[in-house]
Amino acid sequence: MVDPKAFQNFEHAGWEAIPGLYHQAFGQLTSQAITSLLDAVDLNKGDKCLDLASGPGYVAAAAKRRGGIVLGIDFSAAMVAHARELHPGIDFREGNAEDLPLGNALFDAAVMNFGILHLANPERALAEAFRVLRPGGRFAFSAWARPEETSGFGIVLRAVAAFGEPRVALPEGPPFFRYSDPEECVSGLLAAGFENPTVTKVAQLWRLPAGDGLFDAMKDSTVRTAGLLRAQNPAVLEKIRAAMRSEVAEYTTGDVVELPMPALIASAIK
Ligand SMILES: C[S@@+](CC[C@H](N)C(=O)[O-])C[C@H]1O[C@@H](n2cnc3c(N)ncnc32)[C@H](O)[C@@H]1O
Repeated sequence: MVDPKAFQNFEHAGWEAIPGLYHQAFGQLTSQAITSLLDAVDLNKGDKCLDLASGPGYVAAAAKRRGGIVLGIDFSAAMVAHARELHPGIDFREGNAEDLPLGNALFDAAVMNFGILHLANPERALAEAFRVLRPGGRFAFSAWARPEETSGFGIVLRAVAAFGEPRVALPEGPPFFRYSDPEECVSGLLAAGFENPTVTKVAQLWRLPAGDGLFDAMKDSTVRTAGLLRAQNPAVLEKIRAAMRSEVAEYTTGDVVELPMPALIASAIK
């Protein structure tokens, strides 16, 4: 059973520990969704834009380059510090996307890049995004496609299923791939009060070092998947590593692996 507080504490502790590692492993991947997100909210010069679960601040920085007046919010103080270092001059603040420390109807646009799958209560975050947007404002979020399509997730989950113990004692969260289903995106947005939801899929490629690049990224630079890997005993973890190494071979050219990692972009209007 999901204990939202326990799950949120687990996620929070995880993100506090890995801003630099996340930036190295995932920055070039999650940044690939930015253009689609900002196009989906039709961000124009002078628009007030909120970047939710901003992490290292990639979307906030891109929104500023488009002329937006930007605020980034993340619940991890370490992520906020990292974002401020990477993008001096952008306003990043600590805050929970499920309970925003912000007034009503302040923003023309709000975006959340790969944040929704980390939330204990995503419905609440969708309602909060709705609340802080002005009428007519736009919201867009991204989420990974299913593991059958996102090879990075498919490979690690298959290796754990084959050699590991998938039911380890971690705080249970909402299903990681819930918003891989366009219908879940649409119903979530409608339930929060949004109108005219649309969902598109964008192709993305994750470039990692050949060999153990994927295993290392999953073990050191994520939260939930890292928890699953680190809870395995050393002999089992070694089998998982070997299985992942062998599966990534088919995506490897020279010393680089290129993994398909498509994402859904869901957007709607208040
Ligand atoms: C996968 S990272 C995405 C970072 C960034 N948006 C990007 O484009 O790469 C998820 C981020 O969500 C943040 N996060 C998780 N739960 C949160 C919550 N309840 N409120 C605010 N931020 C949260 C984490 O601290 C982390 O920085």
